[in-house]
This record gives sequence, structure tokens and C-alpha cells, in this order.
Amino acid sequence: MKKTNTGFKKEYSKRAGYSKEFILGDLHRYIEANKLFYGYIEKAVKTTKIPNPKLLEVGSGTGRNACYLAKKYPKATVYALDILKESAVSGKKVAGILKCGANLKFIPGDATKMKYPDKYFDVIYSQGTLEHFKDVTAIMKEQVRVLKPGGTLIVNVPQTYSYYTIKKHLGMLLNKWEPGWETEYSYGDLKRLGKKFGLKLTNVGGQEYDSKIIELVKAYKFLAKTIIPKPLDNFFRTDWTKFKEKYGHFFLLEIMAVYKKP
Ligand SMILES: C[S@@+](CC[C@H](N)C(=O)[O-])C[C@H]1O[C@@H](n2cnc3c(N)ncnc32)[C@H](O)[C@@H]1O
Repeated sequence: MKKTNTGFKKEYSKRAGYSKEFILGDLHRYIEANKLFYGYIEKAVKTTKIPNPKLLEVGSGTGRNACYLAKKYPKATVYALDILKESAVSGKKVAGILKCGANLKFIPGDATKMKYPDKYFDVIYSQGTLEHFKDVTAIMKEQVRVLKPGGTLIVNVPQTYSYYTIKKHLGMLLNKWEPGWETEYSYGDLKRLGKKFGLKLTNVGGQEYDSKIIELVKAYKFLAKTIIPKPLDNFFRTDWTKFKEKYGHFFLLEIMAVYKKP
């Protein structure tokens, strides 16, 4: 985690100086790419039936998720927890741009030793955090402890069977992979993870392509505009979307699991 966090530290410190256009562009791209992830959070917030739920982001990083959600749910309180104080610097910049209110709280702290009482949060989520822990026992136990019974935990991690896994492990082997150490999870791994920590897996999904696949998608889109006949293109797109929705967690870049605490 040390090397990983050195990279994050640099990035979050730099972000405080980024322009409004950059931050908004990044946020827009990110929200588009994370539609499914946000959909799970939205559903979890709805099912609480509480007018002012408490949401916790574990490893809030740039602060973009927490800011976006605090703005979307003004009656909720969103806690953005990160071990790096530089994360709050970046988060406050995003919050200023989005004009987020006092319902967004930046909390520097360690997710393996949280200061919150048991059963405090209605929804807990993370995006790109769990894979940086060689041993997830402490962080998982803490998340389960502070989650209310009936509450939802959503994790978003890299999916094992993708080109990104090969690229990442090669990079780590050659000591040339900037974000440092990281692992990945398959559908089976996430099923076992939930079981181990007493959580019920209620949904699973995949999203995002890795960079090489994005190149292929771009090439396809170009061909669709020129030589692929419209009916064939429509057929590909509809079927592909359905296929991705059903089986994306087996081959896309990111896998998300939605757990309920009984
Ligand atoms: C990949 S980043 C998350 C990025 C975030 N999803 C975003 O969109 O900006 C992972 C984050 O987890 C944080 N982290 C690592 N260990 C942690 C711990 N023990 N407690 C809290 N946060 C931690 C890191 O500092 C880093 O900001």
C-alpha cells in the first residue's frame, strides 16, 4: 500500500491545482463510465426508505464519487473516508466546483480502524480500494461492523479475466507499474468474500473496457459509420448490450458486488 499511496498522494495534491474544466470533464467521463455502479448505490439508497441516510465511501480518493452523491442526495450525509489527507484537498476542490453542501464530510482516517459506532451507516461503497489490500480481513470486518443490519455494501474492484490483469502483473513483475501493488477478483472470489464475512450477495455486474478493447470499440464505431450496414449494426449493439449486462462480470475490466448485511 505504501508505493500505491505515494502515487495517489501526488495525484490528489496536483488535483487541487487543476482547472474547473478539467475537473468537470473528468467527473463527466467518470459518471458515464460508472453508470452501473451509481445505479447500485441509487437502489441501495432507495431501499433504506430513510429520508436522511448515511453513506460512507471507503477510500474516497479524488472525492468525485462522494461529491457527486452528496449533490444528488442533499438530505443524505456522505462521509468520504481516506487515509491520505491529500485526498480531502482534492475532494474539497471538486466539492467547491460542484457546490456541495455541508452534507459532504471529508474524513481522513484508516478504514481498518474506524471511529464510528457499530451499525452506523446505511450504505457503504468503495471503488478501486479493496484490491490494494493484501489481507482484507480488517477492512471487511470494519465495514461489516459499521454497517446497519439490512444495509448495503457495494464494492467495485478489477475483474480477474481481462487484459488489464495481464498488463498489471507484467508491470508489477518489472517494477514498472506506477500504482504499485494491486490484486483482482473474479465472480467466485466475490461470492466467497461475502460468505466469509457474513454478507448476502444480492447482485453482481461488470463495467468498463480496458484501453486496448476501447481501441477496438472505436474502430468498430468508425466502421459502423462507413461500411457496416445499419440493421447489422443495430443487431450487434442491442445483443451486445444485453450480453454485457448479463455476463459482463466475467470479462469486463471492473466487477461490482452488492452485499446485504442480514
Ligand atoms: C484507487 S483510490 C480510490 C479512487 C476513488 N475511487 C476515486 O474515484 O477517486 C484508493 C484509495 O484508497 C485509499 N486507502 C488506502 N488504504 C486505506 C485505508 N486503510 N483507509 C482508508 N483509505 C485507504 C487510498 O489512499 C486511495 O485514495
